[in-house]
Amino acid sequence: MDRRITVIGAGNVGATVAQEIARKDLAKEVVLVDVKEGTAEGKALDMWQTSSILNFDSRVVGVTNDYLRTRNSSVIVITAGIPRKPGMSRDDLIKTNAAIVKEVTERSVKYSPDAIIIVVSNPLDVMTYAAYLAANKSPNKVFGMAGVLDTGRYKAFLAEALNISPKDIHALLLGSHGDTMVPLKRYTSVSGIPVTDLLGDDVLDKIIERTRKGGGELVNLMGTSAWYAPGAAVAAMVDAIIRDQHRVFPVCAYVDGEYGLKDIYLGVPVILGKNGIERIIHLNLDEHEMKLLMDSAKSVKEVMNVLDEMKLF
Ligand SMILES: NC(=O)c1ccc[n+]([C@@H]2O[C@H](COP(=O)([O-])OP(=O)(O)OC[C@H]3O[C@@H](n4cnc5c(N)ncnc54)[C@H](O)[C@@H]3O)[C@@H](O)[C@H]2O)c1
Repeated sequence: MDRRITVIGAGNVGATVAQEIARKDLAKEVVLVDVKEGTAEGKALDMWQTSSILNFDSRVVGVTNDYLRTRNSSVIVITAGIPRKPGMSRDDLIKTNAAIVKEVTERSVKYSPDAIIIVVSNPLDVMTYAAYLAANKSPNKVFGMAGVLDTGRYKAFLAEALNISPKDIHALLLGSHGDTMVPLKRYTSVSGIPVTDLLGDDVLDKIIERTRKGGGELVNLMGTSAWYAPGAAVAAMVDAIIRDQHRVFPVCAYVDGEYGLKDIYLGVPVILGKNGIERIIHLNLDEHEMKLLMDSAKSVKEVMNVLDEMKLF
């Protein structure tokens, strides 16, 4: 196995993604790239020095802007950009991050034309769209991570409220990675038991609201956005791709016809395997759920308009 996986951006999220991928031995080589001289090299060296302690073989290397070193990667994870600061919405990030995402996508795709691209940079839905435009690839190979993290947060809150193992909680979220995300009570269960049999609407609604604001809660606590759960979420997606697991995950995917939506990146349930998105799953949403999804799509379209106005593409 001489698989290479590249992670662009060696900040909090990128470094955690690289570490999780290495610890799971998902690649022969994990290449961490950053624009700041020495950052990726240092973090990669530090990580590689844990290999004998943590028992993994994946060689972790770091480079400064050297895309030739990333050639023939199977998967490229894009975390480059600035994170949210207190008081900043994800959408405020667009101007800075769109230019960065465009640049790093073009530079990395040049050396790895067959790679699957997973975008993490915010505002996620629109940055994934920007990477899709820059990569000029089939949309099943360009998608974003948000839903796995958001459902992770939702499940953590539910596990706490129910005093039940988070492993037994199954849940789904649709829509944008923002305050208009759509957690679906009807698709939330505890080992098959509908969550609505176990929790009252008042408690559930509070948990849903906390999930929607889950990113902001952490930004307010730490002064920057989260990385452990985002890093683990990306690694779970990479695992599904590399091992062709056909896992069902909520993923920020290109929607063109499904759910009556066209030409937009938005969180929907998909099957993830070696070809990237193998299939988008269609749910029979009720009127209320459909309205929430449309509201979410509307908010993403508004941010897409900002991207259009930038005339980057
Ligand atoms: N999708 C999600 O669920 C999710 C979750 C958490 C964070 N995020 C987003 O991920 C991004 C990274 O967050 P973070 O906390 O790791 O930030 P960070 O500031 O710790 O790291 C970002 C890194 O990107 C690097 N960078 C900037 N421009 C670059 C370029 N042109 N080429 C290569 N590297 C470049 C920076 O030098 C820095 O090391 C942010 O946009 C954040 O909002 C998304």
